[in-house]
Amino acid sequence: MKYIKSEKYNIQKFMSKIMGPNPIKLEEELLLDNKIKPNSVVCDLGSGQGLTSIFLVKEYGFKVYASDLWSEPEENRKFFEENNLTDEQIIPIKADALDLPFERNFFDAVVSVDSYNYFGRDKSYLDEKLMPFVKKGGYVYIAVPGMRHDCHDNLPKELLLSWTPEQLEYMHDIDYWRKIVSESEMSEIVEIKEMESNEEVWKDWLEQDNEYAISDRKSMEAGGGRYLNFIKIVLRKK
Ligand SMILES: C[S@@+](CC[C@H](N)C(=O)[O-])C[C@H]1O[C@@H](n2cnc3c(N)ncnc32)[C@H](O)[C@@H]1O
Repeated sequence: MKYIKSEKYNIQKFMSKIMGPNPIKLEEELLLDNKIKPNSVVCDLGSGQGLTSIFLVKEYGFKVYASDLWSEPEENRKFFEENNLTDEQIIPIKADALDLPFERNFFDAVVSVDSYNYFGRDKSYLDEKLMPFVKKGGYVYIAVPGMRHDCHDNLPKELLLSWTPEQLEYMHDIDYWRKIVSESEMSEIVEIKEMESNEEVWKDWLEQDNEYAISDRKSMEAGGGRYLNFIKIVLRKK
């Protein structure tokens, strides 16, 4: 696909903030034809260092809560200010997705790129921990790194060059995710499908010079990518 909105983010000051395969391109594909209206209040769930949150504000006109566990909100606030964004547009928050500090029915939508697989693998997660904070009729857009076919019983040696079996436990195929999210009674599935973004987003990540990208190169250069994909999940709160 052509990443029209993401092009201008392909510069070092933004790419130095990515924490995995290019999240901006993943988010652009995830939100193609999205149903979230401009000015909506949106939670970027697992926002990392805030790049995807900036993208949501600047490219889609949402008001964004950049919610993340591992990153520091003060650092993210600095990054937002450097990009001329104010507290009216974007709010950094340290928040555990398992214990969100918001009022019920607060968000028009939730967007989550490359992080839901860390905390959303329990079938009770949606109804107990996330959907209560989404307004009726609101949307949840998720992009997760996945596997073409679950192969946890017989992990390919290429994947084990970069990741332990415990780390690979975070990645699953479409059938697995469909089973998990269909347990939710508070939401309905709008769409689950394999994304087109794969090689392109990995390429941007593997070019980075940080220790994680360097370690990931071992698997990917040995051909591990053929077992992996990204999965798009769209849910609507009933
Ligand atoms: C690979 S990074 C991706 C960050 C960002 N979405 C991006 O694509 O640049 C995964 C993120 O998931 C977040 N995360 C993991 N467990 C979490 C939890 N329980 N609650 C909130 N965020 C969590 C981490 O803080 C981390 O920033």
